[in-house]
Amino acid sequence: MARVDRARIKELMQKETKQFLKGHRKSKTLFDRGRKSLLAGVPMNWMVRWAGPYPVFVREAHGTHIMDVDGNKYLDLCLGDTGAMFGHSPKAVVDAVRKQVAKGITMMLPTEDSVWVGEELSRRFGLPYWQVAMTATDANRFSIRLAREVTGRSKILVVNGCYHGTVDETLIVLENGRVVPRTGNIGPPVDPEETTKAIEFNDVDALERALAPGDVACALMEPAMTNRGIILPDKGYHGALRKLTRRYGTLLIIDETHTLCCGIGGYTREHGLKPDIITMGKPLASGVPVAAFGISQYVSDRVMERILSDGTDESGLGGTLTGNALAVAAMRATLEKVITEANFRRMLPLAERFEKGVKDVIRDTGVPWHVVRLGVRIEYHNTPVPPRNGGEYDASKDHELEKLMHLMALNRGILLTPFHNMALISPFTTIRDVDHHTSVFKESVELLLG
Ligand SMILES: Cc1ncc(COP(=O)(O)O)c(C=O)c1O
Repeated sequence: MARVDRARIKELMQKETKQFLKGHRKSKTLFDRGRKSLLAGVPMNWMVRWAGPYPVFVREAHGTHIMDVDGNKYLDLCLGDTGAMFGHSPKAVVDAVRKQVAKGITMMLPTEDSVWVGEELSRRFGLPYWQVAMTATDANRFSIRLAREVTGRSKILVVNGCYHGTVDETLIVLENGRVVPRTGNIGPPVDPEETTKAIEFNDVDALERALAPGDVACALMEPAMTNRGIILPDKGYHGALRKLTRRYGTLLIIDETHTLCCGIGGYTREHGLKPDIITMGKPLASGVPVAAFGISQYVSDRVMERILSDGTDESGLGGTLTGNALAVAAMRATLEKVITEANFRRMLPLAERFEKGVKDVIRDTGVPWHVVRLGVRIEYHNTPVPPRNGGEYDASKDHELEKLMHLMALNRGILLTPFHNMALISPFTTIRDVDHHTSVFKESVELLLG
């Protein structure tokens, strides 16, 4: 197997950083200016996580391409970390948004689009009742509340390495069997051991041990992990998860936010899962802030009285702008015209081509890495064998190497998702785009191996 030399990584990093600085002068000027009024120089702190000493500032984005203020054009494989998974500003959504903006943005009253959306989400995901939220974080937070209300229990269960948004209970890590706040967790409100149990993904025995005391309101999980690379469930894992959550009276919440990459009804529809609650956000309205959660008849029967009560405006569910006419119009256009079977039929072969391109480079160069695909989401990682859980992934992550790969891609006109080597195929992606990535990936690996 080929070896990646540390000194070589450092040497290439210096070279690539120099090249970045030369090509991104206007971004630097804006970043320096931004630092005087914005925390960390950007409107949202994650934006400094990109490769390079400062982020590129965007002039515009269309389909699967971004143009920056220096005139550089990129193939965007990050797509707003899934927010624009089906392409930047698809025409159908731009048209719907334009139309709705002129007819009222937010009235705290429903529009016909919301009924269409509820019906469509039920048809796709199989759960009967839906509610709109602003972000996937919100959808998860509201669902956890419902689970606590229904079960009368306080604890939630998540997997180590999960990410479900800025939900306090989930910003944890499993350290020597204890649940502790993540390194990046700023100002945790309480010791997370009070609220949260955590297990490793794909560990059925640990799952049963966590549920058996009967104090867990809900298990909140992605059907396949997507925030520690892509980690697929073992065969039989979902069967065991459903059986054990039912046995111990725990509600099962499946977070489909990222796994909408699997098809028009996410992983749930593709694999026939039967959760009690489903949450999702990000690409649902092509990037216009909107999210949704669906609940079963069982859950609905147990919360409806509270939802219809006079205190519903102070129930902890929803917000003034939630479910607004603009967001719902954008969601309808996205579901009707963008997240379609026809688009998945186009995207899937391209995702397979992308995966094969990366696999061939790994095989031909002997670099000790692997590639995983989940629908139209592809991820490569610096271990020969895919990790089976968050703990294994974190132990194997090579931050320095990853940063270099991202910078090399960026300098060659490709944006990869900053937190990992993740690429999304959109309805706008072409064979040329895929092959462009394969050749940049090949060049980068060859440079790395010297
Ligand atoms: C699986 C999953 N759920 C929820 C969220 C939260 O989404 P948002 O930041 O839009 O609230 C994320 C964000 O990355 C996510 O990966």
